[in-house]
Amino acid sequence: MATRASRPLGVVTRGTTNPNRLRRVDNWIVDTCADALRSAPDPLVVDLGYGATPVTAVELRARLAAGARPDVRVVGLEIDPVRVATAQPAADPPGLTFARGGFELAGLRPTLVRAFNVLRQYDESEVADAWATITGRMAPGGLLVEGTCDELGRLGGWVLLDADGPRSLTLSARLATLDSPAELAERLPKALIHRNVPGEPVHDLIRALDDAWRAAAGYAPFGPRQRWLHAIAALRSQGWPIQNRPRHWRLGQLTIPWSTIAPTHPPSG
Ligand SMILES: C[S@@+](CC[C@H](N)C(=O)[O-])C[C@H]1O[C@@H](n2cnc3c(N)ncnc32)[C@H](O)[C@@H]1O
Repeated sequence: MATRASRPLGVVTRGTTNPNRLRRVDNWIVDTCADALRSAPDPLVVDLGYGATPVTAVELRARLAAGARPDVRVVGLEIDPVRVATAQPAADPPGLTFARGGFELAGLRPTLVRAFNVLRQYDESEVADAWATITGRMAPGGLLVEGTCDELGRLGGWVLLDADGPRSLTLSARLATLDSPAELAERLPKALIHRNVPGEPVHDLIRALDDAWRAAAGYAPFGPRQRWLHAIAALRSQGWPIQNRPRHWRLGQLTIPWSTIAPTHPPSG
């Protein structure tokens, strides 16, 4: 008989997903987390909450196998048993399986966890516990990438965490379709999406980015990438400690230490 402790932690939520929706975060993960994966005794990765179809788990395995470690093993965990059964036929490539599980990670000890568009449908007050539950079950040196994006993956934001807690926030925009960086506010990770209000540091960041983007309008004829690069340079000159990652800047991304934009007080509720 199943015990209370063996029940997956969390609740079933909408399963919306799309092919290539997570391409931008996956490529960032390959760049940022490959060393952790390469040095891990067991290259186990969990894709937590893969949704109505397993397409983004299939893509994650392929990207990590090509860019980080060919023997990577990805386990797609879903709290909805129907979605686990639906995913089984996709478990064709070696190194890809599916199972039922929640924030407790079904007893697995992965080196890397990607949880995308999962916490979005929870309360802000549930985020800290979910983070702690996941990171407390990772292998030593393990990393969690938790975030949100729009349905096509053009706008997104994610947090990188280790066992000590959140390390950084990354904002990501497909520059060819970006009107204004203020649009990123709608796709902040759950821990920050309600903090885009005056007095909160993430609000200051998005406002500063938006101002810098508008001030860089003169570079628009050279393309949105040039305009973004000038906006990033302006933010850095104002003292925002944006990580020095020109390759990611050119892709419409920026990463900043969590301590710079952490909420000023715990969520109510
Ligand atoms: C919106 S879908 C995200 C699909 C995919 N990750 C993406 O970004 O396209 C969210 C999925 O997370 C699942 N989910 C919610 N809470 C979960 C939990 N605690 N553990 C595992 N899966 C969970 C839901 O059942 C749903 O299928």
